[in-house]
Amino acid sequence: MSIHKEVKKITTNVLQEMKDSGKKISMLTAYDYSMAKILDSTGIDVILVGDSAANVMAGYDSTLPITLNEMIYHAVSVVRGVSRALVIVDLPFGTYQGNSKLALSSAIRIMKETGAGAVKIEGGEEVKDSIKRILSAGIPVMGHLGLMPQSIHKFGTYVVRAKEEEEASKLISDAHLLEDLGCFGVVLEKIPAALAKQIASEVKIPIIGIGAGNVDGQVLVLHDMLGITQEFSPRFLRRYATLDKIIGDAVVNYINDVKSGDFPNKNEQY
Ligand code: KIV
Repeated sequence: MSIHKEVKKITTNVLQEMKDSGKKISMLTAYDYSMAKILDSTGIDVILVGDSAANVMAGYDSTLPITLNEMIYHAVSVVRGVSRALVIVDLPFGTYQGNSKLALSSAIRIMKETGAGAVKIEGGEEVKDSIKRILSAGIPVMGHLGLMPQSIHKFGTYVVRAKEEEEASKLISDAHLLEDLGCFGVVLEKIPAALAKQIASEVKIPIIGIGAGNVDGQVLVLHDMLGITQEFSPRFLRRYATLDKIIGDAVVNYINDVKSGDFPNKNEQY
């Protein structure tokens, strides 16, 4: 259970207080009402409506195809199930890059139509104008650096990022830029732990890692950590359950009971 159960509602300020007082931040993704309700009841600090929905909910092999309307559908469902955690929603590919006006209208749609508390954006210097404009409307923004799945066609691979000096120093300056612009936190994905640790000590805002070592908090994709998905097994992923087997066994039992006529029994009918 979370150490922060006493806090009634998690806000970006609470996350900052957690970093300032050395308390770790727990964050997981969710995409629907029922899962979000279970997560919120555990005391999780942050629920991310990630564009990883494109992978684990829709079965695409990248996050690029998911639309703003689809993200809004997932986010509305999640927000209905949450009363305590901070809900952050990913701005999907094509709704903020290279056009700060579009970025603002995308972020406004998310905030207005879903009731979420913040948005998340991938990138540093190249999306600076979009971030500035969204922040100017009073919308909290979380950054995302390192492995940015929306740029997979540029990277060409899902290997660890920023192992080389040039990419590492751009990442450090991007993290400082995001802080200076006014982002309330940054996700660092799949980068060397030492680099992430350095950034977390240099910037004051919370740094949330996924495959980035032990920083101010951690995030995982829910379906991966619950073992609903099996095909994705990076080193950083700790599986806390094997739900694929539990669900599969339950469904086989159901099929057998239906076929044998055991279900429904006398007490299960009117
Ligand atoms: O979309 C997502 O789930 C994410 C996390 C991996 C951080 O961005």
